[in-house]
Amino acid sequence: MNKIPVWFDTDIGVDDAVAFLVLHRQPELEVVGISAVSGNVGLEHTYPNARNICHLVGARYPVYKGADRPLYAEVEHASYVHGEEGLGGARLESSPAPHESEAAWDALYRTAVEYGGELQVLAVGPLTNIAIALAKYPALKTLIKRLLIMGGGAARGNTTPAAEFNIYADPEAAQLVFKSGIPIVMCGLDVTLQGYLTAEEIEEIGGHEGAVCRFFRDATVSVLPFYHKANQPGLCVHDVCPVLYMTHPEIFGGQPCGVYVETQGKITCGKTVTDLWSDKKFPDRHVFAVLEMDREAFVREIRKAILSY
Ligand code: BDR
Ligand code: CA
Repeated sequence: MNKIPVWFDTDIGVDDAVAFLVLHRQPELEVVGISAVSGNVGLEHTYPNARNICHLVGARYPVYKGADRPLYAEVEHASYVHGEEGLGGARLESSPAPHESEAAWDALYRTAVEYGGELQVLAVGPLTNIAIALAKYPALKTLIKRLLIMGGGAARGNTTPAAEFNIYADPEAAQLVFKSGIPIVMCGLDVTLQGYLTAEEIEEIGGHEGAVCRFFRDATVSVLPFYHKANQPGLCVHDVCPVLYMTHPEIFGGQPCGVYVETQGKITCGKTVTDLWSDKKFPDRHVFAVLEMDREAFVREIRKAILSY
């Protein structure tokens, strides 16, 4: 079986970490590079977190440093959700792997050229690295087969009433990426808020033997109170959605649409404005907005992946 080459761009945080653990266990996918970006916490944490989680699972994926700040916006972090270092206080052993000297955007372009148009990109943090790569290498837009993001949402925000965190943290980067013409799968809050793990599910999965299950439990348990305070029935593992969409699209439903990112509005900055329910359509409609999921199947796949370590 020919595996799908995948690039993972992350501001690794708690749900990014779970997404990585699920991604690493998908037999159809081959991770060919990882880039870290500032987001949930600063790059000084997301870069080592990405390296260290590879070390935890014994993976030798190259990990590249990306942007330490958004293109124009003020730096925005979410340590109130993910903890000061991004992993909810869970500790990982430091990776002894040699450091990559190439910048994330250069490595992404080089890899996209190497895979001759077959590379798919999973981006689960602010889109700064991808935007820089597209600005520096205009041909990149023809070399990425598909970009699957966690970000945005048609209906609501979480960082402001209008905007979701990943888009709000770097709206100009997001708009540049949405305008690029690359086919995009947008897993926004519409679907990701349905993708939660209850305290009981976390307890059950995390109660199994082994370093990965222990890490899973330590990282997730500490962020549960945030979600309960926000009236969610459990911890939303937002970033797992685009991963499982790649390998299990039948779990999800959605619709094609056009998306425009608001970069000017005082109240609406970072909003992904869609034409989903409007009679006025954007001329460019190359986004597939994922809107719903079968939560039981979603949790089943997460459990299967975590228990396979
Ligand atoms: C998104 O922002 C981050 O807090 C999460 O890792 C996820 O990518 C949810 O809005
Ligand atoms: Ca993330």
